[in-house]
Amino acid sequence: GNKVSIGLLGLGVVGSGVIKLIKNHQEELVHQLGCSIEVKSVLVRNVDKVRDVDLNQTFLTTDPADILQDPAIDVIIEVMGGIDEAYQYTLEAFRTKKHVVSANKDLIALHGTELEETARQHKCDFYYEASVAGGIPILRGITDGLASDRIQKVMGIVNGTTNYILTKMTNDGMTYEEALKEAQELGFAEADPTADVEGLDAARKMAILGRLAFSTDVALSEVEVNGIKDLELADLQYGEKFGYTMKLIGFAQCKNQQIEVSVQPTFLSNDHPLAGVKNEYNAVYVYGDAVGETMFYGPGAGSLPTATAIVSDLVTVIKNMRLGISGNASLEPRITTTLRNSEQ
Ligand code: HSE
Repeated sequence: GNKVSIGLLGLGVVGSGVIKLIKNHQEELVHQLGCSIEVKSVLVRNVDKVRDVDLNQTFLTTDPADILQDPAIDVIIEVMGGIDEAYQYTLEAFRTKKHVVSANKDLIALHGTELEETARQHKCDFYYEASVAGGIPILRGITDGLASDRIQKVMGIVNGTTNYILTKMTNDGMTYEEALKEAQELGFAEADPTADVEGLDAARKMAILGRLAFSTDVALSEVEVNGIKDLELADLQYGEKFGYTMKLIGFAQCKNQQIEVSVQPTFLSNDHPLAGVKNEYNAVYVYGDAVGETMFYGPGAGSLPTATAIVSDLVTVIKNMRLGISGNASLEPRITTTLRNSEQ
């Protein structure tokens, strides 16, 4: 038809961004898709809350069935976060033949493989570009952009809060507590920043990147994680004196025929491309056999940047619907690099 109807699960910072972007870039979207996008209903916790977003004809509900059981809705956008309910709703969406676009890093790091499989069984699309590094199109960069290459190594600054803290401590001599407080005020720290500073948020994103780069299921429990809590200002300044910058780096690489994923505070030589990534910015460095060094840089959080990843996924979903190829996006993933590049 001339309209695709969307159900949105969640209307926080990211959900509001999605509504704004669909509205602000309507002309761009209609031109590419030949149809308009209608946000038909939104699942919220409180219908009466005053919100700074223009909701027009959109129906707000606290009952997920209003959305998941609505046959007029083609695509679900999950931006509610959390694991258990989001997991149930995503499965339910596939069972009722709805495509899903998700921003939920916690859910996908834990259940990504299973959800992809379920989506495929139901011939549904499942995209989650926003789950890693916000506005940076890194998942597509790995799965499509570098589809012809053999990836050797992925290194990422994928947590804005810790990068902000490390930058402010090193460059401005701020204390850890002051810098964390600023990151919270600026709105990119998690509600409970423990997951940021202990490295778990980065570990979840690296598990997703590692799975896609190497086509191997990465169990979160196998990711070695160290956060930034125990770093001393003196250590950072000592490194700086010798030309090294401390960063919280996620690694996903192939070593001795095993995929290793870890998150570690790491001294990078100042001439490494990741050393210059400052403040809350994210960047993912990918080394491929043929391409050599690449780096993808940009905002790892924020309302509109994250919304671009979600709405771009939505564009792909709608194009696939039109072409009749839904659910075939990951027909054959990359071959597993583990068994092949043992000498690297
Ligand atoms: N808390 C996250 C960060 C938000 O600081 O990067 C984006 O996932």
